[in-house]
Amino acid sequence: MNIQEAINWATKELKAFERPRLEVEILLSHLLDCKREFLILNDNLEIDEIKFKELINRRKNHEPIEYITNKVSFWDFELFIDKGALIPRPESEILVEKAIKLIKKHNIKNIAEIGIGSGALSIAIAKKCNVFIEASDISKSAIKIANKNIKAFHLEDKISVYNCSMLDCLNTPELLISNPPYIDPDVKLEANVANFEPHTALFAPNKGLEILFNILGLIKLKNIPFAICEMGYNQKEQIAKYAKEIGLSGNLEFYKDLAGLDRGFVFKSNIS
Ligand SMILES: C[S@@+](CC[C@H](N)C(=O)[O-])C[C@H]1O[C@@H](n2cnc3c(N)ncnc32)[C@H](O)[C@@H]1O
Repeated sequence: MNIQEAINWATKELKAFERPRLEVEILLSHLLDCKREFLILNDNLEIDEIKFKELINRRKNHEPIEYITNKVSFWDFELFIDKGALIPRPESEILVEKAIKLIKKHNIKNIAEIGIGSGALSIAIAKKCNVFIEASDISKSAIKIANKNIKAFHLEDKISVYNCSMLDCLNTPELLISNPPYIDPDVKLEANVANFEPHTALFAPNKGLEILFNILGLIKLKNIPFAICEMGYNQKEQIAKYAKEIGLSGNLEFYKDLAGLDRGFVFKSNIS
């Protein structure tokens, strides 16, 4: 099977997907470790048919392309990813943008991230700001991936990762960031998410609210001056209500994602 034949065959195999030809070219250039332009210039080149068909079958089975190629783009860089960590989503770039603005405005130095996953958020912030970040995650496989990415960007002096829950093993920060699990376990997700991404990264008890509520509780308990947290599009009301109930004093401002859906909140205490 040569490149041209492989592209023709696989594009038909993936016809149910939105951009089959593009996906085929990405997978083929991953297999050949080349740029996509190489495929056009070398269409007679013979490829390893068995390995290529394996990749196409994985995709046909709805495995996310990022897990097959072990690459994901986030912010202005590319990260290593595999199924041990959630694939970072473009909407989390809004959290990064807000964090960088807040850090610069208030000259913030100490940050904590709850649930670092692949490291996407902390790495994006540490690349741009002169800060020290301590991060936690309960998943050992996510921590392995985060540390691999932190090392690849030479950020070991700026980001430290700990295997614990919430802030249990971290110092109280000036700014707390988190994209916690916030999906209601009763919600049925698409196969590419439900069958491949780690459920500890997606779901939280109490209709997805438990970890968000715990984060609000920690902000109050530890007098954390600033926090930015992602949440589900339908959780604004309960979060505002819970913050009021626990007497969180300060300004809780909600923000939307690019689709116009409620996506997170920024907390600034009265004393900050
Ligand atoms: C939605 S993922 C976010 C990962 C990454 N920050 C991102 O935005 O791509 C949530 C992460 O929180 C971790 N996690 C879940 N419960 C946790 C807890 N109690 N304490 C710390 N991390 C937790 C999961 O293992 C997962 O890596």
